[in-house]
Amino acid sequence: MRRRFAVLPGDGIGVDVTREAVKVLAEVATLESLELELQSFDYGAERYLRTGETLPAEALEVLRGFDAIYMGAFGDPRIPDMRHARDILLGTRFRLDQYINLRPVRCFHDRLCPLRAYRARDIDFVVFRENTEGLYVGVGGIFKKDTPDEIALQEEVNTRKGVERILRAAFEYARQHGRPSVTMSDKSNALRFGHDLWQRAFADVSRDYPEIEPRHLYIDALAMQLIKDPRRFDVIVTCNMFGDIVTDLGAALQGGLGMAASGNINPGGTSMFEPVHGSAPKYAGLDRANPFAAILTAAMMLAHSGAGGAAARIERAVSECLEAAECTVDLGGKLGTAAAGDAVARRLGGG
Ligand code: NAD
Ligand code: IPM
Ligand code: MN
Repeated sequence: MRRRFAVLPGDGIGVDVTREAVKVLAEVATLESLELELQSFDYGAERYLRTGETLPAEALEVLRGFDAIYMGAFGDPRIPDMRHARDILLGTRFRLDQYINLRPVRCFHDRLCPLRAYRARDIDFVVFRENTEGLYVGVGGIFKKDTPDEIALQEEVNTRKGVERILRAAFEYARQHGRPSVTMSDKSNALRFGHDLWQRAFADVSRDYPEIEPRHLYIDALAMQLIKDPRRFDVIVTCNMFGDIVTDLGAALQGGLGMAASGNINPGGTSMFEPVHGSAPKYAGLDRANPFAAILTAAMMLAHSGAGGAAARIERAVSECLEAAECTVDLGGKLGTAAAGDAVARRLGGG
């Protein structure tokens, strides 16, 4: 069976870390006798600055035809309004209806755990971030721009259908993975309409999963509890904006943004995989960025496309590298980006 993946390295360190993820994919494919076809696309800042086009009209239809899409990161100081990233990254999430932003928070090694009272095994939960609505829909406008009376409106959209399907996805995951609780986080004490909908939908959906304990925390309390006792969490489900914020916090619990992987899942369509981190322009091209988040993201993509053995093999190799301190400086190692990728590739074969 042949698997076809579209690869969009993007900008900044997105290019550096994607190269390592591709290296590891190629190596694991050989070892596991997988037939992978990777096709690269140069959508990103350079192309936009050159052509004025962020994403060609037909691009999403082309990307939809792949088994999965892999993205590095987008963001370039020369494009401060992030126009290209909105079209490419948010465009893919929205238009391919990848409504589940699945962001596992798992600490791979005690050395990476930033909390004095806890160890790596205490940090193991999964965030389900709603990925197609909320504050990200781009509904709003600016009135009387650049005058003292300027008004900017940014609407948050919560649909019953959209909220219900992400809640259901979180409960299904908990059921399938034997996770005893689902924590829904909102700000319904202040956001009386949109997040009231979350409250009512959560009560309804949780009734279909009597074996799973439904819990609720306001987002501010969740942020505090994640630091105070991360062991309490199995599955967290929240809106687009809060999910963005809380997964950077989650990344810190894993050893930093260089360790956090994610998937943008459409269960009935084409999914896209990307590390949680951005393009970190200050490290671009310097052989400095940690490629492990990108490599673990490639593992998520393989697992999603039915190659669970290959995915587990990559995770094992990353764990071994961490144990041997074969890693980049952000994790306490001495390696550059390429050497860290080589180290993972070497350990895939058990050597
Ligand atoms: P960032 O994630 O790019 O970097 C923040 C800091 O985290 C870096 O300065 C660095 O210290 C550290 N870091 C991140 N990734 C790392 C890695 N792989 N290895 C080592 N250290 C790493 O966030 P930012 O600086 O806020 O944003 C930079 C640009 O990226 C902006 O244009 C932003 O909009 C964009 N961005 C894009 C994505 C995406 O494409 N998915 C995600 C977040 C931010
Ligand atoms: C992320 C990023 C994006 C988001 C930005 C770049 C639009 O921060 O994937 O976490 O907010 O979703
Ligand atoms: Mn983010």
